[in-house]
Amino acid sequence: MGLLDLSRQLIRRCDELGAISEEPGRLTRTFASPAMARANQLVGSWMRSAGLQVSEDAAFNLLGRWNSNQSGAKTFLLGSHLDTVRDAGKYDGPLGVLAAVAAVQLLRERKVALPFHLEIAGFSDEEGVRYQTAYLGSRALAGKLTAADLARVQEKQIVGARRRPGEFTGYAEVHIEQGPVLEKHGLPVGVVTAIAGQSRLAVEFHGVAGHAGTVPMKLRRDALAGAAELILAAEGCGVLATVGKVEVDPGASNVIPGKSSVTLDVRDQADSRRLAAVRSLKIKAQAIARRRGLKIVWRVVQQTTAVRCDHALMRIFSHCIAKRGLRVMRLPSGAGHDAAALSTICPVAMLFVRCKGGISHHPAEAVKTADAQTAIAVLADFIRTLGKAE
Ligand code: HGY
Ligand code: MN
Ligand code: MN
Repeated sequence: MGLLDLSRQLIRRCDELGAISEEPGRLTRTFASPAMARANQLVGSWMRSAGLQVSEDAAFNLLGRWNSNQSGAKTFLLGSHLDTVRDAGKYDGPLGVLAAVAAVQLLRERKVALPFHLEIAGFSDEEGVRYQTAYLGSRALAGKLTAADLARVQEKQIVGARRRPGEFTGYAEVHIEQGPVLEKHGLPVGVVTAIAGQSRLAVEFHGVAGHAGTVPMKLRRDALAGAAELILAAEGCGVLATVGKVEVDPGASNVIPGKSSVTLDVRDQADSRRLAAVRSLKIKAQAIARRRGLKIVWRVVQQTTAVRCDHALMRIFSHCIAKRGLRVMRLPSGAGHDAAALSTICPVAMLFVRCKGGISHHPAEAVKTADAQTAIAVLADFIRTLGKAE
């Protein structure tokens, strides 16, 4: 199958996979759900037809393996994630897994023999929608689950997904950029330099529920009004800060909210700036609570430090892009990726693919077939060059 057909097949497969959801009328696939099991089955069948040995580990990560016939060969890992956010686009995650399958199909059809084993992972929970803990699947594989993770998840067996330390010589991930930079510069792909660090927090305000018609404004201890002040403080905190989910109790239109719970997602390329912003937001939240007579519960659900991509692997991606007559753009990622989890056990690199309008975490996410074709070609070249560098 030539590159153009492989890229058309890749887009068709993202469409087909995008129809597997746990919610009617929109794409949502969360950790360990029946929809994720169906997705693993479908992608597993595509991996098998590309000649890969398919398995699923204890953390529901889907794995496809191409063994080298060289004795003592080490393993290089490719992949991305198969879970999604709520009301997701079809490419965030699946594009990277399926581009890796397409690159393997291309190399095997061209009878390329690699001096290393090649494995593709379809990670089971990068987004963390179910437990708010990002990278659950890839951190299980990397052996980096924490006691807090295991306290949060029902599926305790995921700790069994851990792979041998030192087993992987590196990890590379193809992913949509989820931003507007490549499109603005008219480029189909780019090399990622770093991945922003993240703080994921859960904040509760506890006040007093009451009658909307009888409690004077000045006497209220309104938990949602307190949360609203924190949301505006987050908006002005100087780094990327997002309140993505708000829950209100008791949640009736004629009852003053007695309790509010908000998620807070804070990110920056510099860990010191991110942590300073989290500290200052915590101080502001405590002052809001004091002034309003509220109790506050401030919980850090997860912190992931910023990650620098490996220079040697970045150089190989840059070389493979330049070889195709394309300008090489290097850019940081504001989004988190499984590569951040894998960076704790091996060198990592990422290839960004242009997406329409930079839109992501939204059903309007879109990728051009021609850009998918470039991504497959660059990734296949990357793998072959790795083989020569061995
Ligand atoms: O939230 C993120 O940055 C990624 O999409 N998990
Ligand atoms: Mn993603
Ligand atoms: Mn995402």
